[in-house]
Amino acid sequence: MKLSNKVEAMQFSPIRKFNPIAQKAKDAGKKVYHLNIGQPDVETPECFMDAIRNYENKVIAYAESGGITDLQDAVSDYFKTYGMNIGRENMIVTTGGSEALTMTFLSILNEGDEVLIAEPFYTNYHTFATSAGGKVVPITTKAEEGYHYATREQIEPLITEKTKAICCINPGNPTGTVLTKEEMKLIGDIAKEHDLWIIADEVYREFAYDGREAVSFGQIAEVEDRVIIIDSVSKRFSACGARIGFLISKNTDFIANVMKIAQGRLCVSTVDQVGAAALFRLPKEYYEEVKAEYCARRDVVYEELMKIPGVVGQKPGGSFYLTAKLPVDNIEDFLMFLLTEFDDNGETVMFAPAEGFYATPGLGKDEMRIAYVLNQEDMRRGVELIRLGIEAYNKR
Ligand SMILES: Cc1ncc(COP(=O)(O)O)c(C=O)c1O
Repeated sequence: MKLSNKVEAMQFSPIRKFNPIAQKAKDAGKKVYHLNIGQPDVETPECFMDAIRNYENKVIAYAESGGITDLQDAVSDYFKTYGMNIGRENMIVTTGGSEALTMTFLSILNEGDEVLIAEPFYTNYHTFATSAGGKVVPITTKAEEGYHYATREQIEPLITEKTKAICCINPGNPTGTVLTKEEMKLIGDIAKEHDLWIIADEVYREFAYDGREAVSFGQIAEVEDRVIIIDSVSKRFSACGARIGFLISKNTDFIANVMKIAQGRLCVSTVDQVGAAALFRLPKEYYEEVKAEYCARRDVVYEELMKIPGVVGQKPGGSFYLTAKLPVDNIEDFLMFLLTEFDDNGETVMFAPAEGFYATPGLGKDEMRIAYVLNQEDMRRGVELIRLGIEAYNKR
């Protein structure tokens, strides 16, 4: 039987594809530090489960396709704290930011259309764009330059008549790079001049460190009709399994048309929406506490990594990832070595090889992404295991 060209062109997620090998290592009694996936160990705020426990309906009924109004109103209040006026008519609740991205690409791309995105980028964009018949066109960035991409010289030569959107993951995954307000303004100007959508993936909005401000493309009034915000409770509230995300736009024609897809898939989990509404009513201090914890983890990871001779990387300004070059020839081979041959006192470590976060063939072969999602002690040990692993690997 034949499969579609689309699915055959897709890749397995580099974040998850080594999990079966890690499982074998665990079955053999090794402890594996999982630095490969953005699954934080931070506890989900209790109010999530409390709200679900107190949910009194006798039937778990379908929700409205755009989301339950209680959640929409809580999200609307949250955006007010950013000076943004987002009403129910400007949002659709989705099954995670992932569904928001899939729906966006399905709604704005025709076969062969292109979306610009700085590489390395969150690897699943390949899958989301390909499933809609589109193509990712990378704006290549470099570790040595802090992965910056927001200049006219880097962006404009890549725009063709097929370009429909520029995607900005801000703060960045996998690089942790945070756009400045000037860079956002420039991207806004370019989008306006070339009539592009701006897909603003802001699922890490609050995780901006060292005095950097949490901001949104939705705050730039001149482009509000072309901004599509992707949002999610997964990272902000450490509620990845809740599968609640959002598509937000002031472009009511866009929202009205996405609603066709939303109605087709009926609705998002009703109970998870009830829990998510409670999360958005947490006080501002919650964000500060969580941010301080991730910032401390980042410092630990960066400090430990920089002790390894030959590592090239920058201190990330946001999100909870760090991408760096390691002094090994082939990162996937090194990861296999860590999982199958290496251990230190019965422990080993796993990260995500960065090659799958690039669209340009050949790039990222010596880079890895670390998610600093474990407590500080575990992060220190995880990076120590990388250091010991490199020594053992290069000695073979
Ligand atoms: C940049 C970015 N966007 C979107 C997502 C999707 O997250 P979710 O579907 O859990 O909301 C992720 C998950 O890691 C991400 O890193």
